[in-house]
Amino acid sequence: MSEQAIEVTDISKTFAKGKVKALDEVSFTVETGTVLGLLGPNGAGKTTIVRILTTILKQDSGTAKIFGLDLSSQSHVIKRLIGLAGQYAAVDENLTGFENLVMISRLTHLKKSVAKTRSLELLEQFDLTSAKDRPLKTYSGGMRRRLDLAASLVNNPNLLFLDEPTTGLDPQSRLMLWDSIQQLVKDGTTVLLTTQYLEEADRLADQIIVIDHGKVIANGTPSDLKAQFGTSIISVELQDNNSAELAKAKIQDSISNKLIVDRNVLRIISNDGPKLALDVLRIIDANSINLAGLNISEPSLDDVFLTLTGKTIEE
Ligand SMILES: Nc1ncnc2c1ncn2[C@@H]1O[C@H](COP(=O)(O)OP(=O)(O)O)[C@@H](O)[C@H]1O
Ligand SMILES: [Mg+2]
Repeated sequence: MSEQAIEVTDISKTFAKGKVKALDEVSFTVETGTVLGLLGPNGAGKTTIVRILTTILKQDSGTAKIFGLDLSSQSHVIKRLIGLAGQYAAVDENLTGFENLVMISRLTHLKKSVAKTRSLELLEQFDLTSAKDRPLKTYSGGMRRRLDLAASLVNNPNLLFLDEPTTGLDPQSRLMLWDSIQQLVKDGTTVLLTTQYLEEADRLADQIIVIDHGKVIANGTPSDLKAQFGTSIISVELQDNNSAELAKAKIQDSISNKLIVDRNVLRIISNDGPKLALDVLRIIDANSINLAGLNISEPSLDDVFLTLTGKTIEE
């Protein structure tokens, strides 16, 4: 099998007769056995990439290969090598977890007896055995996501696509799902996952691609990106925008870190949060600028965006 699980070259896609440019010459590669985290806000183009690579949708231009096979001419072979879990799972609310898995297994042409064995195996793997005979409509959000993930694995795919696997989940269910994904990767599955959470990409991915408005705006390992973004963000809250600009000007004189003013908040990207925060406070105090608040946090996707684009995600 090709060493490259995915090779995407200059893929573009528009919707609404060209009015919406969902993807704009996107290129990236994913090595077999690794995890790619595709990180971006709502509407960035994540699902469009997933739908193209899983043969649901056709690109307008550009090429893509899955395990060295051309996406447009060999989709029938590719379909047998991939699995997809995500926002629009084809499950029946009135069927039990077990019945859903058997149905999906049968759709992928597994024999009835094999389908049943495989389904029981997957229910066990995802800690759903005790709920296997309950209709899906009684499942919690976390259980649904686990069943959805199980469903994407009936054909033992070499390459798995996960479209926002944990969006909207509570922290405990999220951790459980992360464990399951990590186990799959350990067993050799290549994974492309989309997410809006930097923490999720950081935890699971070997390589992270940040996309915004259909364009790749950053590509690297989590440590590459962190080196670029810093490991912590110091947010200094001032009285108003003018004070924030003033604080920025004063701090700039003695500190070389990246400084961003967002309304009345000054953000400082740092690799040494607490120590730098002290220096920042001293400068603010020495210049008699009124402090309204101070907070040190890990970079969020919003901070990543601010650093890369100078705007927040909602703008
Ligand atoms: N079928 C469609 N028709 C029209 N516009 C679409 C369609 N699918 C996606 N889009 C638009 O393309 C852009 C990218 O969407 P999508 O790939 O779903 O983003 P994401 O998954 O990152 O939230 C958005 O502006 C979205 O509104
Ligand atoms: Mg999406």
